[in-house]
Amino acid sequence: MIVLMLYLFFWSWLPSAHSLIFQYHDSVEIEKYLKGISSTYPSITHLHSIGQSVEGRELWVLILGQHPREHRRGIPEFKYVGNMHGNEVVGRVLLLQLIDYLTSRYLTDPLVTRLLNSSRVHILPSMNPDGFESSKPDCMNTVGRYNKKGVDLNRNFPDAFDVNNNQERQKEVKAIMNWLNTETFVLSANLHGGAVVASYPYDNRGSGVQEGSSVTPDNDVFIHLAKTYSFNHTDMYKGNSCPGSNFPNGITNGFQWYSLSGGMQDYNYVWAHCFEITLEISCCKYPQESELPALWEANKPALLAYMKQVHLGVKGVVMDSNGNLVQNAIIEVAGRTNLNPFKTDLNGEYYKLLMPGTYTFTVIYPGHKSTTETISVPYGPDTFSAVTQNFLLQKLDFSALITQLPMATTTSVKKNPENNSASLLANAVTALTALIIQRQLLS
Ligand SMILES: *[C@@H]1O[C@H](CO)[C@@H](O)[C@H](O)[C@H]1NC(C)=O
Ligand SMILES: *[C@@H]1O[C@H](CO)[C@@H](O)[C@H](O)[C@H]1NC(C)=O
Ligand SMILES: *[C@@H]1O[C@H](CO)[C@@H](O)[C@H](O)[C@H]1NC(C)=O
Ligand SMILES: [Zn+2]
Repeated sequence: MIVLMLYLFFWSWLPSAHSLIFQYHDSVEIEKYLKGISSTYPSITHLHSIGQSVEGRELWVLILGQHPREHRRGIPEFKYVGNMHGNEVVGRVLLLQLIDYLTSRYLTDPLVTRLLNSSRVHILPSMNPDGFESSKPDCMNTVGRYNKKGVDLNRNFPDAFDVNNNQERQKEVKAIMNWLNTETFVLSANLHGGAVVASYPYDNRGSGVQEGSSVTPDNDVFIHLAKTYSFNHTDMYKGNSCPGSNFPNGITNGFQWYSLSGGMQDYNYVWAHCFEITLEISCCKYPQESELPALWEANKPALLAYMKQVHLGVKGVVMDSNGNLVQNAIIEVAGRTNLNPFKTDLNGEYYKLLMPGTYTFTVIYPGHKSTTETISVPYGPDTFSAVTQNFLLQKLDFSALITQLPMATTTSVKKNPENNSASLLANAVTALTALIIQRQLLS
């Protein structure tokens, strides 16, 4: 009986063998579909809600991987977020197609199998289901863009560069902020429409503007990530897919395109150390359903190639002199000082995306000698793994003195304060102080 019901249920989704019909499914249908998938593939999927929209719709996330229910050491966390602007609907459709593709091909398709065995993939098909429900098929207008309270969710995040950004956080934004606190995401993309281009941080004017771009200390990595998408897409790399557009290589710095404050990608990078880019994947925000199969074919190789990039760079753990894993150890890569210091996560792990090359790492932890290592980094995606470098710290002899110094406070730095600039500055100053004191003690 149950088998028959399942069969009938899936039959309604599967007009031809193993394919999800190319349609705009509403929130109720998506929920049914995701529940169906998670009961059909219980060993490689885990469905959970990260919160509710203003109108009470669940923000469903499907996790895929060999161990979908929990983080495993050395397995990086990846995410895709769709439909943040409710009327930009193609991402929502493509992410469901991606779920269908990944689940149905696990253990038969080598790329899919290796992706799901080597990383944990979180997919949020719709971040703004209320906006979707109120949107209308239209290429350019803004009906449905905002959440139920009329707020643009991609302007509602705390912004490290905007001291006046203390607007009320929307439920959908709070859900994302909590989500970033519970998982250590390494790489992400959020899918939009209305253009065809891959845009990378910063969106806001940061500390350094070079030739019109607001660059992060990891600009080389972001350019590589954006190009990985655009060049694996059938035509994004040409940069002229939409009338009047001209994006060299199909990529752009967010600020260079147009500056915005409170955006999600800057928040991910600065606060969660998650490299997120913004993918604009269709000229028309809400195209006819007949165009969806071609949009999937155009984006499929790019979506898969981008996921592999979660394996760039270096990963590992930091242990104290007793061999215990430590959280909040500062990891400095020379020449790449983040606004908010890069640190080990609650598991004592770190994942640092880097292009192939040689880098100097310095690890700083209160009461311990700082450790410096030169690391040679190969191209991780080739082997579906970043190179591993663990750090075992040695205790400082004069630890009694250390505990009285301000650097001890770095362990209590709050990761995601509701508001930003003042506390961010305080964090950076504390970290810098720690760094200086540590170096003085050693020299
Ligand atoms: C992926 O993991 C599964 C389950 O442990 C295993 O059977 C399979 O051989 C692995 N495949 C690859 C390519 O790693
Ligand atoms: C896809 O992206 C990878 C990584 O950036 C790149 O090496 C490869 O050449 C791209 N594929 C195509 C067809 O351009
Ligand atoms: C910022 O956050 C801190 C700590 O959470 C709080 O004490 C302070 O009142 C907040 N400031 C503003 C302007 O919201
Ligand atoms: Zn958008």
